[in-house]
Amino acid sequence: MMQVAEAKRIPIAELVEGLRSIPDEEFKCEPVYDFLASHPVQIDSLQRFLYWSPTFYTRNLIYKDDRFEMMAICWDKGQVSRIHNHSEQRCWMMVPIGRLKGQNFAVESIDESKGLCKLRETDSFELSDCLAAKVELEEPIHQILNLAEFDERAVSIHIYSKPYDRCLSYCRDTDTFKEVQLFYTSVDGKLCDGVKL
Ligand code: SIN
Repeated sequence: MMQVAEAKRIPIAELVEGLRSIPDEEFKCEPVYDFLASHPVQIDSLQRFLYWSPTFYTRNLIYKDDRFEMMAICWDKGQVSRIHNHSEQRCWMMVPIGRLKGQNFAVESIDESKGLCKLRETDSFELSDCLAAKVELEEPIHQILNLAEFDERAVSIHIYSKPYDRCLSYCRDTDTFKEVQLFYTSVDGKLCDGVKL
């Protein structure tokens, strides 16, 4: 991970344009990570994408094309993601507001025919101040947590390549896993139909 607090902050639209200009053959883990780590985002430019819910973390689409999607995810105090993978897609994130913990998991045993999977916690990391991170394709199962002890809201910017709307979700109480559908809370700053915050 790389500290970027000193780098000049850019508006989110510039971050999108910068990512769009990366050639296909370089749209891989390290070059995209380096780009994010050296381009922290201006918080003001995110405001229109931020929605908060007391009951779930919100997924707010900023940009999407065939190659990647970018989302602002808003985490109220204490909200956490499911333990999940990323459908074999590449994923990067940056945390411009607040602080988040990422917990990675390894598969101890799996029986796909029965939907059973036992996970073991591996390494964890913390992000804040526009620090960037990437999901390792070799160990893609993880959870993102805005721990209650952090005692503040957080916003993370996620880039998924390619875009996807389903992933595997794991339950450690029952050692089971299943495919789940993913939804946006808002698209381009507008709340999606039927979403109640
Ligand atoms: C999500 O995309 O809903 C969860 C955030 C993540 O771990 O990438």
